[in-house]
Amino acid sequence: MSLSIKIADLSTAMLRMLPAEMSHRVGMMALQKGMHQMLPAMNLQRFYRRMSSNVPGLGNLRHPIGLAAGFDKNAECPQAFVDLGFSFVEVGTVTLSPQIGNPKPRLFRLKEQRAIINRMGFNNHGSKELQNRLSDLRWAFDQTPLGVNIGRGKQTANEFAHQEYRDLLELFLDKSSYMVINISSPNTPNLRELATPKFLQLLVSELSPTQIGKIWLKFDPDLPKKHFQSLVEKATELNFGGIILTNTHRVEQPYQGGLSGHPVTTMSNLFLQWAYEVHSGKLPMVGVGGILSGRDIFEKIKLGASCVQVYSALVYRGPYTVFKLLTELQEEMDLVGAVHLDEVRGSYY
Ligand SMILES: Cc1cc2nc3c(=O)[nH]c(=O)nc-3n(C[C@H](O)[C@H](O)[C@H](O)COP(=O)(O)O)c2cc1C
Repeated sequence: MSLSIKIADLSTAMLRMLPAEMSHRVGMMALQKGMHQMLPAMNLQRFYRRMSSNVPGLGNLRHPIGLAAGFDKNAECPQAFVDLGFSFVEVGTVTLSPQIGNPKPRLFRLKEQRAIINRMGFNNHGSKELQNRLSDLRWAFDQTPLGVNIGRGKQTANEFAHQEYRDLLELFLDKSSYMVINISSPNTPNLRELATPKFLQLLVSELSPTQIGKIWLKFDPDLPKKHFQSLVEKATELNFGGIILTNTHRVEQPYQGGLSGHPVTTMSNLFLQWAYEVHSGKLPMVGVGGILSGRDIFEKIKLGASCVQVYSALVYRGPYTVFKLLTELQEEMDLVGAVHLDEVRGSYY
């Protein structure tokens, strides 16, 4: 196994020598062609007994690590991420109509910091193509929850945004395990202004409680504390499925865009704490942002996250990311003598 990991790490390092977006494209093509199946499979079953959980509004998870939105925006190869060991997969962000996104270059790696800056701008093939892809998939939803993350088109004015989100919800609510309202990307002008209690109310005004329970909200880590907490209060009151904390941190240097990876760990964790202060564990939370090790996962679960998602880790730690993170998470659990992850969840408070 260790030789396979070394070979996989070497190929990941070679892939990283290409410009960032090209290397993502090449990686995705390799996954689509099933090249990851040439790597010896990891045995993850040994982790399930101590790490499986049922996350209300999301489903049964074998372990807490899911794929974050943005990696497989168009559901080109969601099954490959299951093969890589992810316990749930989120596709998107998808917009109603296809978008080409911002001009290139728009994706940058900050290798020393194990970080990424992107200003992709919701480049995606649009809802119609995603619908077709999902109907071709024959996904085993009960085994691996699949989420669809949706966003407002660049050209749509904020006053019409709720209608666009509702249209997208209608298209995908029955074809996914859960859906995510992305009102937190820094790369669509004025999108973040939609993060208001009033907008949340407007979003759900014609939906049934069951539908609302399948909808998660993804927030950014640049919101002022009081404002963020008013959103959490509203999300709890309206019985949304849960909240995903967080999206990328808006930066201007060294590139303009959204920052991911190690530098956002502390910031994202603070948002889990701020949210918990409001809902005291009533509202499920997915922790995302700056997870590069099993210890980072342990911290987020301690802070009340039901489960987590990763993006940057996959770039920096390669195809065995899930195996590596679970091994490290198990070591953290052993250190405190936790038999099951449920004992860790929320134990910070
Ligand atoms: C290149 C790139 C594209 C992303 N695209 C999306 C997206 O379309 N929708 C979304 O909700 N988040 C998107 N994200 C944010 C990630 O889902 C995640 O919230 C963020 O990267 C923090 O996690 P990480 O530190 O593990 O990377 C993107 C991130 C990156 C690096």
